Amino acid sequence: MTRAAMLRGLSRAIVYTQTGDPTSVLSARTFSLPPPAPGTLNVKLLLAPINPADINVVQGVYPARPSLEALPDSAPTDQLFVAGNEGVAQVTHVASDVAGLNVGDWVIMTKPQSGTWASARQLRPDDVLKIPREAGEVHAATITVNPPTAWNMLNNFVHLNEGDFVVQNGANSAVGQAVIQIAAARGLKTLNFVRNRPDFPDLASKLKALGATEVLTYDDLTDRALVKTIMKDWTAGKGIRLGLNCVGGKDTTNMMRLLGEDAFLVSYGAMSREPLTLPTSPFIFSNLTCTGYWQARWSKTHSREDKESLMKSLVDLIVAGKASALKEPEHEILTIGAQDSDEVAAQKVRDIMSKLLKGQYGKKVLLNMESPV
Ligand SMILES: NC(=O)c1ccc[n+]([C@@H]2O[C@H](COP(=O)([O-])OP(=O)(O)OC[C@H]3O[C@@H](n4cnc5c(N)ncnc54)[C@H](OP(=O)(O)O)[C@@H]3O)[C@@H](O)[C@H]2O)c1
Repeated sequence: MTRAAMLRGLSRAIVYTQTGDPTSVLSARTFSLPPPAPGTLNVKLLLAPINPADINVVQGVYPARPSLEALPDSAPTDQLFVAGNEGVAQVTHVASDVAGLNVGDWVIMTKPQSGTWASARQLRPDDVLKIPREAGEVHAATITVNPPTAWNMLNNFVHLNEGDFVVQNGANSAVGQAVIQIAAARGLKTLNFVRNRPDFPDLASKLKALGATEVLTYDDLTDRALVKTIMKDWTAGKGIRLGLNCVGGKDTTNMMRLLGEDAFLVSYGAMSREPLTLPTSPFIFSNLTCTGYWQARWSKTHSREDKESLMKSLVDLIVAGKASALKEPEHEILTIGAQDSDEVAAQKVRDIMSKLLKGQYGKKVLLNMESPV
């Protein structure tokens, strides 16, 4: 093999050998990626997001985790976890026995915890789905977790008619923003709650530009007069039938008061780490259903055709030209350069972890890991 060919085969991954504090357990490893083994393909990762759940996986407090693996040029006993669940990649090599995928295709991951915080990986065709390039890199890198979660929560619990309200907290999260946009595309109204902050008016304007009907803070939920107005005037006395909970804690208890008869309160996140306490009476007298939603479970229990169909619906929303109903999440790209040493690469990731762990970062961070030279 020529030196150039060998260099093309180098990859780098963000790895850990034991779960714990992401600002200390993460490191970077450079390894050489062999040509695809039979039944596999090699991909170059284009962008991979850092989602809150990815941080929880590294911390060891999330129910899903990657499998231990040995990198291709390591001893079988040198086992580690490669971090990263979501991302978009470009196919660079395909084994001769693999059909339906070609060099240059863009793919997203269908297998959870595929180890996407890497510059290149070897994957199985069953673990990826082709995605059209028109989706754009940022959308494609962030399309398998948050938008489908929003889509399924809006569709799978309550039959909503045009003009109906949905209420949610954590409305400025990536999921919350997808909820706002998908709901608006369906003609649904959204009542959106966020934490108070000095630049609240700017945040409210930004969410309204995405299609939010109303944006309020958790403090507003303790204003009895406002709650009465929402119930009586905004929802024409019907109350709201779908509430989405990203946060937990007492703010969610307060938000539940906006729900009407036969409503669903669907919890998908626990960002405040506070338990959810609910009064008993709405369960008895208003037939409240309080349940949870996990996209990973949906993926595990649905067919490849279901996943393709959901991705198509989302891509259709994205690529509708000027009428695009789903905008890219606000983001920044963290590049791990080809010239960076493994130590520099790891430090860049650990630094962003410590910023994200402080909260209120406001932007989705996407890793762009160049192949090392
Ligand atoms: N169940 C599922 O299938 C599923 C799928 C996707 C995501 N999720 C979960 O959904 C949540 C949001 O994910 P994402 O990717 O959309 O996140 P994101 O874009 O990083 O947004 C994080 C959100 O959490 C809020 N937040 C952070 N710390 C908080 C605290 N202590 N109290 C109250 N709010 C807090 C942030 O509000 P500020 O701006 O005020 O900080 C922001 O709205 C995460 O818990 C994630 O694991 C679940």
